[in-house]
Amino acid sequence: MALLLHLNDVDEKQWASSLSNTLAPYRVLRRNDTYDAKDINYIFVWKVNDNVFDNLPNLKAIFSLGAGVDALLKHKKLPKNVPIVRFIDKDLSQCMSDYVIAHVLMHHRLFSHYNSEQKKQQWQQYFPPPASERNVGIMGLGELGLDAIERLKPLGFSLNGWSNSSKNIKGVKAYVGTSEFNEFLTNTDILVNLLPLTKQTKHILNYKNFKKLKRSRNFTPVIINAARGGHQKETEIIKALNDGTLGAASLDVFETEPLPKNSPLWSIENCYITPHIAAISNVQTGVKYFAKILTDHENNKPLINLVDIKKGY
Ligand code: NDP
Ligand code: OXD
Repeated sequence: MALLLHLNDVDEKQWASSLSNTLAPYRVLRRNDTYDAKDINYIFVWKVNDNVFDNLPNLKAIFSLGAGVDALLKHKKLPKNVPIVRFIDKDLSQCMSDYVIAHVLMHHRLFSHYNSEQKKQQWQQYFPPPASERNVGIMGLGELGLDAIERLKPLGFSLNGWSNSSKNIKGVKAYVGTSEFNEFLTNTDILVNLLPLTKQTKHILNYKNFKKLKRSRNFTPVIINAARGGHQKETEIIKALNDGTLGAASLDVFETEPLPKNSPLWSIENCYITPHIAAISNVQTGVKYFAKILTDHENNKPLINLVDIKKGY
């Protein structure tokens, strides 16, 4: 009985040694160790290779290091009927909320504007309205969206949310499904994307939708995408930033990562680029989380935080 790690683009060695210390005597293996594939009951994955699920006849669960499972669900050889547990963690949520709040405040207080004025040594005062007159709209009211909403509340913004199923969140105007999407957009100055990437949400950040965002006299709408690059049409973001349909964009994720050197996004002044770092899965809390789920499951407790494979998130 063993847990196999298959983590790319992170320090797998560190995760392995920490999981091994926490789970001992339960065996924790890395892909180059010698083992009998029949012994693997759990596999812990991120950005997996094509053959990762081959010949694992006794798999009880797949653990996803990422909160987002879009790439995993597209894996051609994903075993059918094996439950997938995704990462849900307070620190991860707070980390994402920090990112969202930093960018919401930056745009609300017109720092992108002052940044360009500074370059021209221009001294001109602009006064933003109170936060209560600024509408922040969060797409996705799941683990991350709800945390961001709760942390934005004390800052006084006027908050909108959009999700698949109806929500009753104190102090938030909640919109549901495709029928209420346009109304959500027309009431939003700062659009924050925290949706999972699915067939329904692919390319949702497009020019047509940017045109629907609220237009106030002193504020051009802004987008913040910290979910997935597949949500955005980059050519349309470029067009919208260049023709003034969008006032600014904060992008943590991209259609191709790393963002290619020849992308025009790099040199657009009011485009704020970060290299997919909005919320990083933390080794300490991650090890605690997955070790407990594995141990509980071995003690016949049900798995938690399962992905709904039909819904795609
Ligand atoms: P959850 O699954 O907890 O929440 C998803 C939310 O989106 C739910 O509220 C769901 O509605 C809503 N939703 C899904 N599909 C639709 C749709 N078609 N229309 C309207 N609403 C929809 O996800 P998390 O909050 O945990 O994570 C969100 C995403 O953030 C991840 O999928 C991942 O891609 C990204 N992420 C990015 C990171 C980064 O560093 N940049 C780090 C971690 C995550 P309902 O509640 O009704 O089901
Ligand atoms: C995630 C991510 O989904 O880091 O957790 O993007």
